Amino acid sequence: MTEEQLREVLGFYQDLGIKQIYRRAAPPGTAAAADTVPTAPTAAAGPELVVLPLAPVHDTLEKIVQDIGDCKRCRLHERRNKIVFGTGNEQAKLVFVGEGPGADEDEQGMPFVGRAGQLLTQMIEGTARKEGIPLLRKDVYICNVVKCRPPENRTPLPDEMEICGQFLFRQLEVIRPKAICALGSTAAKALLGTKDGVMRLRGKWHQWRDLPVIVTYHPSYLLRPYNQNAKREAWEDLKKVLHFVYD
Ligand code: URA
Repeated sequence: MTEEQLREVLGFYQDLGIKQIYRRAAPPGTAAAADTVPTAPTAAAGPELVVLPLAPVHDTLEKIVQDIGDCKRCRLHERRNKIVFGTGNEQAKLVFVGEGPGADEDEQGMPFVGRAGQLLTQMIEGTARKEGIPLLRKDVYICNVVKCRPPENRTPLPDEMEICGQFLFRQLEVIRPKAICALGSTAAKALLGTKDGVMRLRGKWHQWRDLPVIVTYHPSYLLRPYNQNAKREAWEDLKKVLHFVYD
């Protein structure tokens, strides 16, 4: 079996919700054993367990787009117009992760291009300017947890996040930014595996794998008229992450 074929098989199981797949080491002396790449030390008792990575070794954003293809892995494909993969600098030091496309994004195939997106652009560029950091929206990378618009902009369901999350994680591993900014509780849940809300999570550093994560309010929440306090806090969060990344 080639590496590509193996990845397809593993991807199939992952789509079914099987998160970890182990390979038992081939018995010593067999042809397969000769192919086995040495891995973590073998446990004293029991078989050696090798976790197979689902992402290809030399992954790229292009390969991820190809793997997503004309995705029908979850129900969200049924009503989508366009898959919204992500845009921006592919070598960005800062990645923003939102929840999922809205109507404008679904139509244009680009993340954060509607009202919330305009606010996000203002927040990034306005804060950077005030802080003396030469940064435009095109310098960061912006993507979402799910790549297809949920009907009526509902929150993505756990299985949708699980299935699409593998592509988000691959995007983040390819870009490997200096920091990630999670916009809202869905992004925080996908990255940190927590049910805590933004109020509890914001203002401090978290980690996705080995990358630092800041959680802040989703721009759609900030568009609501009575959220002055949240707006101030979001600007503080942004300042914090911008200085961390660009100072
Ligand atoms: N909200 C999101 O979470 N993502 C978008 O791309 C647009 C709105």
